[in-house]
Amino acid sequence: MARLQFRIASYRQGTASQFPGFHYSATDKILLFRTRTEETPMPLVNMKDMLRHAHDHGYAVGAFDLVSLDFLEGIMMAAEKTRAPVILSLAESHFEYYDFELLMRATTAAAERASVPVAIHLDHGESLRSVVTGIRLGCNGVMVDASHHPFEENVRITKEVTDLAHAIGVPVEGELGYVPGVEGEDAEKHPGEIRYTTPEEAARYVEATSIDFLAVSIGTVHGRMKGTPKLDFGRLAEINARLGIPLVIHGGTGLSDEQFRALVKNGVSKINYYTALSDAAARVVHENARRGARGYTALASGVRQAIAEECTRMIRLWGGENRAEEVLSAARPWRNVMHVIEYNVEGLDEAGAARLRAKGREALSRIPGVMAVETGVAIQPEDPPYRYAWLVRFCQPQVIAYYRDHPLHVEYADRHFRPVAGNRVTIDFELDE
Ligand code: 13P
Repeated sequence: MARLQFRIASYRQGTASQFPGFHYSATDKILLFRTRTEETPMPLVNMKDMLRHAHDHGYAVGAFDLVSLDFLEGIMMAAEKTRAPVILSLAESHFEYYDFELLMRATTAAAERASVPVAIHLDHGESLRSVVTGIRLGCNGVMVDASHHPFEENVRITKEVTDLAHAIGVPVEGELGYVPGVEGEDAEKHPGEIRYTTPEEAARYVEATSIDFLAVSIGTVHGRMKGTPKLDFGRLAEINARLGIPLVIHGGTGLSDEQFRALVKNGVSKINYYTALSDAAARVVHENARRGARGYTALASGVRQAIAEECTRMIRLWGGENRAEEVLSAARPWRNVMHVIEYNVEGLDEAGAARLRAKGREALSRIPGVMAVETGVAIQPEDPPYRYAWLVRFCQPQVIAYYRDHPLHVEYADRHFRPVAGNRVTIDFELDE
């Protein structure tokens, strides 16, 4: 077991008995987060490895959709407390509620300081463009949802995404059949009637698209259930037997404990869960209001804990508890790469060199798998061996070759950069945690 350090992260309300996995000060008011040391593993892990582990060992990882910092913190509190792998999921259908880029920064920071394995997933990605943006901002798993289209069109859209995402090493979830919405704020985002996934089509779809995880429609709905849902477990078992890849259930809210157990037994390795979290948060706000709370922080007080409690219950039910260490050893860590170039230029003045960098920042940052392109000028007073630098962050090592051969890079490097920057050194560094 790794040596642990503790630091005060922030003040929390609550008692030690509510969250026994956490460490409180004598006053029970300060929550201490476990932080990583050299001996603790990198918690952001390859999502394909994470879900393969879940599939092989008969449990499901919770993919909890978050819409605010309260959700993010609550989900992580539950994962840490239960020592479970977790998927932090951000749904494109929710982007009207928050700034995706800003919340991704916080989500990435939460994953980096976690001590349990984490994946960050783009949920219900609507297009190739959304997927590229999601990966640029830090998602290491993506869903493309073309399930409302006819079969052939779904295949075409999904394959376009898998071709690209796999070229840069990012796993993809596709959906076949259609999971509609019934009631609740998420429901109206999924209009229309249910279409069940057929095992034959599922096999053709996976073969044609090479997706890594398949979201199936077997009777669940997005949002609150009306009555007791009937799930087609026979259909699920057949799909699982034919495909052998991790299956995903959308519309987790409202199923019975028994149904969840049967889903997990039949190959479901990822369960998407949102409306119940949203309703739990709303109940706290209503209760605070009923008790006379008026200001925003007073109204929202306790939301994090409510989210944590709901996630804790589901993680335990789905079998993820105490799987963190196994997953950390089985799954490849997800590490960014820094592509560093130090160079001098010939035949350009300072203004020309600045224009060259600006042009490169614009072109190269559009290449999929590139997370950031930064440039700089040496500030040493003496003559430095190299005057300029590029720092290009890739989401992971497979991007090195993809980037090198990408037309945007080839065009910029051959036409603009290399002719004036003959004196240079290039090194790719896999970043430490
Ligand atoms: P629920 O809102 O029904 O839990 O479904 C969540 C979901 O499937 C998100 O993709």
